[in-house]
Amino acid sequence: MPRAAEDPALGEAERRNAAALMRINHCGEVCAQALYQGQALTSSSGRIRDALAKAACEEADHLAWSAQRIRELGGRTSALNPLWYAGSLAIGYAAGKLGDAWNLGFLAETEKQVEQHLQGHLDRLSPSDATTRAVIETMQREEAGHARTAEGLGARELPAPVKCAMRALARVMTTVSYRL
Ligand SMILES: [Fe+2]
Ligand SMILES: [Fe+2]
Repeated sequence: MPRAAEDPALGEAERRNAAALMRINHCGEVCAQALYQGQALTSSSGRIRDALAKAACEEADHLAWSAQRIRELGGRTSALNPLWYAGSLAIGYAAGKLGDAWNLGFLAETEKQVEQHLQGHLDRLSPSDATTRAVIETMQREEAGHARTAEGLGARELPAPVKCAMRALARVMTTVSYRL
């Protein structure tokens, strides 16, 4: 897990907030696992499947880092993860069924939205929480890389209403998992 060289002790409120934000990110990474698995199931091209597998490998790191950071902060993971996992697997599978260009387009848009979402967390985290920041910044960089990979492989730009629907669904997930 990425770690800051210096890591000052956090106050109770800072620690709780960071644990809840990391619970959201952990849930997001559970969804990422499911999306990538669903998409890899249906993608027809070996080249794309290889790229998905490489990104999925980094997503597995993100999942492990999020879980570890939650433990260090004394938090817990979301009770609803199995539900989000199942939903995301179905969405990933459906995206894959639409063909490679849409599949990659969905992936690129997901990763861009995640990157923006992580920026929001950096803005909300305590400036002194250097280690949580290091974890999120590394994830953010890699999510941007996943989006670029998908674009390089021929991602198609999704229609605006689809992007909106994805944002709305993500908002439900993040709002619920901040608490549950
Ligand atoms: Fe990730
Ligand atoms: Fe990603």
